[in-house]
Amino acid sequence: MSRIPVWFDTDIGVDDAAALLVLSRTPEAEVMGISTVAGNVPMERAYDNARKVAALAGLTCPVYRGAAGPLYQELKTALHVHGEDGLGGAVLPPSPAPERSEAAWDALYRAAVAAGGALEVVAVGPLTNLAIAFGKYPDLKDRVRRILLMGGAARGGNVTPAAEFNIHVDPHAAQMVFKSGVPIVMCGLDVTERAYLTAEEVAEIGSHDTPVCRFFRDCTADLLNYHLQRGEAGILLHDVCPVAYLTHPELFRGEEAGVYVETRGTITTGKTVTDLWSDKQFPVKNAVVVLDVDRPAWASYVRDTLVNG
Ligand code: RIB
Ligand code: CA
Repeated sequence: MSRIPVWFDTDIGVDDAAALLVLSRTPEAEVMGISTVAGNVPMERAYDNARKVAALAGLTCPVYRGAAGPLYQELKTALHVHGEDGLGGAVLPPSPAPERSEAAWDALYRAAVAAGGALEVVAVGPLTNLAIAFGKYPDLKDRVRRILLMGGAARGGNVTPAAEFNIHVDPHAAQMVFKSGVPIVMCGLDVTERAYLTAEEVAEIGSHDTPVCRFFRDCTADLLNYHLQRGEAGILLHDVCPVAYLTHPELFRGEEAGVYVETRGTITTGKTVTDLWSDKQFPVKNAVVVLDVDRPAWASYVRDTLVNG
């Protein structure tokens, strides 16, 4: 069975780390490279975190530095959610892997060329790296099979009432990605706010005495409490959704739609505008907007992958 070549782009915070661990234990996927972008944490911190989590996961793929900030806006981080270190205070040893000097967008393009059109990109942070890559390499859009991203929302937002964090941080980059012509699977808040693990489910994973399960327990502890204290049912593992969708779309429900990003609104900047429920339709259905998940089945998949992977 030929494996899916996958590129992972991340602002690696807590749910990103969970997503990378699940991806690393997905037998159908081969991680060709990891790129880091400023978002939850500054890019240098994301680069260091990605190298450490990749080493924990047993991944030998290269990790690259990407954009230290959005294309045009000031960077807004989410340290208050993910902790100053971005990993909830969980401690990992330094990575033994050599550092890479090549820029993320150049490495991504090389990987796309090498994959012969089969490369799938999982993007779980602001989309700055992808936008730069599409701008520098006009033929990249023809070399990426699909982008599965965590970002946006057909309804609502978690930074403003209109915008989700990844899109809000860099709406201009997001608009470039949604207009690129590459088929998109958009795992927005519509589905990711239903993709949670309960305290009991997290504790059960953490009860297994393996380095990955122990790290998952330690890394998620504060964020789990953050959600529980807000009266929510558990920890939202937003970024795990596009990873799970990559090989198990049957866990989800989505609809094809036209989706574009507001970049100039005073109230609505960063909103992913979809035509899902409007009479007026966009001319192109450029995305599958994922709207729901079979949470128990998804939770079992995440648990089994982390525990048995
Ligand atoms: O809005 C949730 C998204 O913002 C997730 O990707 C999380 O890691 C943060 O980057
Ligand atoms: Ca993220």
